[in-house]
Amino acid sequence: MTTPPPAPMVTGIHHVGIVVQGLERAYRFWRDGLGLPLLREAEISDQGVRAALLAAGDSEVELLEPLGGDTGVARFLARRGEGLHHLCFETTDVGAATAALAAQGTALLDPVPRKGLAGQIAFLHPKACDGVLVELATPPHGESRPESPVTLKRVVIGCRDTGATASTFQRLFDLPEVAISGGPRIMLGWAGGSALLMVPASQAEGAEGMVALSMVAAGLEPLGVRLDAAHVPMLRGSNEITVEPGGATGVHLHISRFHFP
Ligand code: CO
Repeated sequence: MTTPPPAPMVTGIHHVGIVVQGLERAYRFWRDGLGLPLLREAEISDQGVRAALLAAGDSEVELLEPLGGDTGVARFLARRGEGLHHLCFETTDVGAATAALAAQGTALLDPVPRKGLAGQIAFLHPKACDGVLVELATPPHGESRPESPVTLKRVVIGCRDTGATASTFQRLFDLPEVAISGGPRIMLGWAGGSALLMVPASQAEGAEGMVALSMVAAGLEPLGVRLDAAHVPMLRGSNEITVEPGGATGVHLHISRFHFP
């Protein structure tokens, strides 16, 4: 008798969490400009936020509006302004995943999973992943995402030492390595799906942690028309649209015509 291989710790990037001033204004970019379908919106009172999830290919974008009070999200907005806040991996059993991480001595903000917008969720302590705040989520069973015109492909992470940060993510989450150029950049994730791209902080204006997102669009022309209609400032190349943080709720965003390998 052979035993089946153990289930992977995580199976993909479920969403990236973005702190915004207000959901309504953020929808003008993410829903109306990019065209991401809104999946749901709800008040999460224990986090002091109003949150929304929008589909972006095999992943989602989560928008977080602080409701007031001294919460982590309100402090983030006051200190750093709008922008990338956390990264959420999907796992089939968040309870087993957090127990396994705790047994290895990994610091957790939620030792016991709780209900969040994405299903049962738990946050690791930010110091566990070199300054990247990581959430794990087990979404409700049988959930499917609608098609979206733009797909999340890369979460770019600025690192003091890309090898050390990649090792941390591989040790904690057993992430497969997609490609290595031989240079200082390292990519971890799922072939043909979403991935983390670790880059030296010196190539990211000195910033460490999540610094940018890369997406792929089936058609750049209709996207350009929608972004124009939503008054989004952008740089248009023949194969890429770059939206500056001021137009994308604090997020550096590159949208390419091509699929990545
Ligand atoms: Co989240």
